[in-house]
Amino acid sequence: MKETKDLYAETAAFLAACISGKPETAVILGSGLGSLADAIEDPTIIPYQQIPHFMRSTASGHKGNFICGKLGGKSILAMQGRFHYYEGYTMEQVTFPIRVMKLLGIKNLFVSNAAGGINTTFKVGDLMIIRDHINMMPNPLIGPNKEEYGPRFPDMTRAYDREFIRLMEEIAAEKQIALKKGVYVGLTGPSYETPAEYAFYGKAGGDAIGMSTVPEVIVARHCGIRVFGMSVITNEGYHFADDFVNDANDVIEAANRAAERMTTLFSELIARI
Ligand code: 6GU
Repeated sequence: MKETKDLYAETAAFLAACISGKPETAVILGSGLGSLADAIEDPTIIPYQQIPHFMRSTASGHKGNFICGKLGGKSILAMQGRFHYYEGYTMEQVTFPIRVMKLLGIKNLFVSNAAGGINTTFKVGDLMIIRDHINMMPNPLIGPNKEEYGPRFPDMTRAYDREFIRLMEEIAAEKQIALKKGVYVGLTGPSYETPAEYAFYGKAGGDAIGMSTVPEVIVARHCGIRVFGMSVITNEGYHFADDFVNDANDVIEAANRAAERMTTLFSELIARI
């Protein structure tokens, strides 16, 4: 059996042959946010099925394409659709693309997701800069440390790059796009939270809650990739009316509506770094 080290290298070699330019930034597009991909110029679209050792994207609202092209005047890579732990993938599989990106020379990773709002000032459709996270999933670095990527005990004090946050706040002010800022709680899912759980994570310091992002961020930080993260608030997990239900279709619809604003912000951040 091949070592995973070889698998990363094989996938990276395959993708390197498809990529033009020297992209330094990669973007992961979450539920409903895949339309940011439409803004990519001169795109080369590679379906995940064609990429050696890549998983398939099964989550609703997620396409499965690896895209390279230009955004904000720079060469970028984008993943239209990601892999989630709740789909049954191992953490190794969920974070596989991050180490492939590292081998491809990626230095900055922008992650996006749809998330439930637990901060009571958040409304559906709000965009939130992720300033920190609380990990409630298994840590993707469990197991023998991959020394060639990073240290056994990586620092997580500033997982979300302060300079990127500062730049994004500047851009949002200029473009008059409202932004929240807060802490993302990453859970395995796939069930949504009970009202008691929302209250619990709110008291713990969370502002938004979701089922992705944190594993990719941990693996990216382990190998020294700078991270910027943004959540679209797709439901309000703090006032449960008697007839309230959490519904995945509403989540995707709310994310779709926010995708245009996020595309503007991400393109401009890429242009300025
Ligand atoms: Cl409300 N909870 C979780 N865990 N994930 C979500 C969500 C809520 N909304 C979008 N994704």
